[in-house]
Amino acid sequence: MAILVTGGAGYIGTHTLVELSDAGYEYVVLDNFCNSDKKAIERVEGLTGKKIKIYEGDIADGELLDKILNENDINACIHFAGLKAVGESVREPLMYYKNNVIGSIKMLDKLMERGVKKIIFSSSATVYGDPEIIPITEECPKGEITNPYGRTKSIFEDILMDTAGADSELTAVLLRYFNPVGAHESGKIGEDPSGIPNNLMPFITQVAVGKREKLSVFGDDYDTPDGTGIRDYIHVVDLADGHVKALKKIGVLPDKEVPADKGILIYNLGTGRGTSVLELVKAFEAASGVKIPYDIAPRRAGDVAKMYCDASKAGKDLDWKAVRDIDKMCADSWNWQKNNPEGYNS
Ligand code: NAD
Ligand code: UFG
Repeated sequence: MAILVTGGAGYIGTHTLVELSDAGYEYVVLDNFCNSDKKAIERVEGLTGKKIKIYEGDIADGELLDKILNENDINACIHFAGLKAVGESVREPLMYYKNNVIGSIKMLDKLMERGVKKIIFSSSATVYGDPEIIPITEECPKGEITNPYGRTKSIFEDILMDTAGADSELTAVLLRYFNPVGAHESGKIGEDPSGIPNNLMPFITQVAVGKREKLSVFGDDYDTPDGTGIRDYIHVVDLADGHVKALKKIGVLPDKEVPADKGILIYNLGTGRGTSVLELVKAFEAASGVKIPYDIAPRRAGDVAKMYCDASKAGKDLDWKAVRDIDKMCADSWNWQKNNPEGYNS
């Protein structure tokens, strides 16, 4: 038995492969490397001491999926593959709908046809829009999403729900990630964005390593204690562990399947704690000993003031909890960046 991990060469995927190996799971990876580097897979192999079976190609390629399903005894899929840059999705919406929605539909169709009916899907806190309830529980209705990327996540959630409504064998876990940061503590794998980072933590680490001059803080006039945006940062290794716990919840164990809940299961994966931009800067400076120069810039379109979750449902149902704090997130992000100033091409 093996898990099909789509997008397994990416940031969250690589960390999840390590956790899967530690938990004793077998897996194969499908990735087209459109936003990742083959060296990331080699690094995972170094960490786990195991050769990874990797299929290079697109999730929309039915023939390739048939080949993977013929060559391996796949019983579940963790579906990370997707494009994720919010700004790019505004400029290239069709590319995002094609890749994240049409690609995922084609993949789901093939998996269903071949009887692989256990799926864990990388969704996002972005589906809550500007949340009605803080801390955000899974009961919080989906909100008005401000960009095509976020809509692709929400649409594919709905597609999984409709499909599960029509086929009671389909079990899909929708994991709504909050803000993943940090890196494996070995410093061997981490986030390696191409070009100018969109997200706060990789921007900070690139300032720290001297690749960028200073950070722009997008707005200091939000209704928050210091005026800057609040997010629920979660260490990527804790997030990765959430996937292992989700597999167990749906009865997929390393060596066997056991009866378990079916249908759609939705979980927030975050720490439940909010951290402002300036608090994160301060924590990073303390963890790294490097000063981060910044200036205050206008608000970024589409940003909300506060987003943090109530993660108690995942705590109770999955026996999962984020255990790494902000200081550890900063220390591990810095360890990765300083050891790999040019990412995987260092
Ligand atoms: P990433 O870009 O590092 O990894 C995604 C991987 O998918 C890459 O290796 C890429 O090459 C691959 N891929 C993309 N489209 C593909 C396709 N059509 N066929 C095959 N492979 C394809 O991103 P990540 O940060 O690891 O995110 C993983 C998932 O989690 C994504 O679906 C993302 O939308 C979601 N997510 C990420 C965040 C975040 O902040 N990182 C937050 C919420 C949700
Ligand atoms: N920020 C800055 N300067 C920067 C970058 C970000 O001040 O250079 C601020 C933002 O305004 C926000 C906070 O830092 O207040 C976090 O911003 P990120 O871009 O790191 O993260 P977001 O919360 O905007 O979005 C991220 C992912 C989305 C995902 C969402 C929820 O980019 O894909 O988390 O999971 F949907």
